[in-house]
Amino acid sequence: MKWVIGNWKSNGAWSQNEALLVALKALVCENTRVGVCVPFPYLAQAQRMLQESKVLWGAQNVSPFGPGAYTGEVHAEMLCDFGCRLTIVGHSERRQYFGETNAQIAEKIQRLNAVAITPIWCVGETLEERERGAWQDVLRQQIVEVVEIVGAAAVENVLIAYEPVWAIGTGRNATPEDVAAAHGWLRTVLSEVGARSDLPILYGGSVKGGNAAELFTVEGCDGGLIGGASLSAMEFAAIVAAAE
Ligand code: G3P
Repeated sequence: MKWVIGNWKSNGAWSQNEALLVALKALVCENTRVGVCVPFPYLAQAQRMLQESKVLWGAQNVSPFGPGAYTGEVHAEMLCDFGCRLTIVGHSERRQYFGETNAQIAEKIQRLNAVAITPIWCVGETLEERERGAWQDVLRQQIVEVVEIVGAAAVENVLIAYEPVWAIGTGRNATPEDVAAAHGWLRTVLSEVGARSDLPILYGGSVKGGNAAELFTVEGCDGGLIGGASLSAMEFAAIVAAAE
């Protein structure tokens, strides 16, 4: 089975969302789990539009804290009120712009596990890290620092998204060879820390209808986390079709 999950990022508008969500609901897929992670203000709309369908929905972040005096934060139990089944944690844009740390990611995974929401745990190296040959060390550190805190059992039910930062929003997707190497390395590291090495690992970074099939057929690639293309009903439908 493949996963194709849209990440709208900080995009959307009520009327535009309606059309996208109607198109999502109309997708016919037997072998693919389809989902969408929307901005917090649109969770109720996604719930209303998708609740009678097989499409999963969720958020793009969650507080590392529980209820309380944490102004502006959205905690895991609130996401349950909107029927969320998925939530992204550790996206490179949150690491870059909001300083999200592996320790915070660990806390977020634990919070989501407590309410049975599936974390989509993003990892990936920057262009600078890849160019100096450090991508394997970076991926290992991102996995190890979280599992050291939460324990291997706590990541039994996550989805991992390998998102090389240099491929996000650039139109330059990783090659099938890059994806095979990175996903294989992640499974090696997962084994080293005593975690499941067969966890679903999605690829993210400039996935489009035209390249999805070659990426999704890579050994060890279990689907995609889709940014820009998830804002186009036609493009996203083509990606889901490629997964089928
Ligand atoms: O979370 C998915 C996202 O980072 C990939 O973005 O626009 O390259 O598909 P994009």
